[in-house]
Amino acid sequence: MDQAPRITTDLTEVIVELKKGNLVAVPTETVYGLAADATQVVAVSKVFKLKGRPIDHPLIVHCGSAEYAWKCVTGVNATAESLASAFWPGALTMVLNRSDLISDVITAGQDSVAVRVPDHPLTLQLLKELQRPLVAPSANRFGRVSPTQADHVQEEFPNQSLLILDGGPCKIGIESTIVDCRQADSVKILRPGKITEEQIKQVLNFGHTINDTTNSDDLRVSGNLPAHYAPSARVHLASKNDLVEFLEHHGFDHGPVMVISTSDKPLHLKNNIVWQRVSSQPEEFAQKLYALFREADRQGFPYLVVELPVREGLGIAICDRLQRAAHSSNIN
Ligand code: TXA
Ligand code: MG
Repeated sequence: MDQAPRITTDLTEVIVELKKGNLVAVPTETVYGLAADATQVVAVSKVFKLKGRPIDHPLIVHCGSAEYAWKCVTGVNATAESLASAFWPGALTMVLNRSDLISDVITAGQDSVAVRVPDHPLTLQLLKELQRPLVAPSANRFGRVSPTQADHVQEEFPNQSLLILDGGPCKIGIESTIVDCRQADSVKILRPGKITEEQIKQVLNFGHTINDTTNSDDLRVSGNLPAHYAPSARVHLASKNDLVEFLEHHGFDHGPVMVISTSDKPLHLKNNIVWQRVSSQPEEFAQKLYALFREADRQGFPYLVVELPVREGLGIAICDRLQRAAHSSNIN
């Protein structure tokens, strides 16, 4: 019999499925996650298998409250507590030392665990009713674009009997900020996101150091592989000032190109250049970005050219994702 994913809004059905040790895709404010009961090792293993994710890439543990998250870790320090009260529920993932509740399968054998309290009403309610933590990586095949709507998850796993909890389009649209909080006096940003370095600095005391290690390779953060978050189209990036010149010179003679830009299409550009105008507000840009990647693939565009936002605030995280999406497509 053919298998296919099924979309639901029924929390009771979702809870039964998770307790049985099956996977369910759940909405969060960032992107959809592929969730399993974190207390069932076999269920957690299914996440790696379905995503095609290497087993040495650890998973984020999602909890219904900070109190619950602290049960998953040991050595909670004042830094972690301040960040939790400022940003949870929200798009901040904290890496701390793990407690005995957390298995090796989740952490890929590391002593640390990544925890967060997601800010989505349905998933928060689910976590509270379930009374267990959920592991949830983004609900896409490994290395591909994270889903920001329920139908994106369907597209990712068309032949699986996977239940998808529909919570509408994700508000933020790119993955959470990940910070290493194991040292009380210094915080390392492992993956940039909606919660920025400036916002984190405002919460912490003077005297803390904040290191942006998003380009270092001493910790295993799979979202930090140089090539990630990639659509099938070859992605090229250009600054706002260079975009038109880039399009004029490249020509794109081998196929049509989709352009994502904050400006209007100049009239003299060829017809094979299809324009998607987006807001210059980084919040709106981030929220639509992955859906536009998917649209380019759905329409079969071999090329996608994206205007890089200004590298400040949320723009830093958007540039990070765009650079990873473009990594294997460099042309000259
Ligand atoms: O917004 C998000 O974070 C989404 C939603 C579903 O919550 N989740 C997400 O999960 O992006 P995933 O698995 O696609 O990315 C999680 C990242 C990976 O790069 C993983 O390597 C890193 O978190 N990570 C997990 N545990 C870690 C740990 N103990 N130390 C360092 N990095 C860790
Ligand atoms: Mg991911």
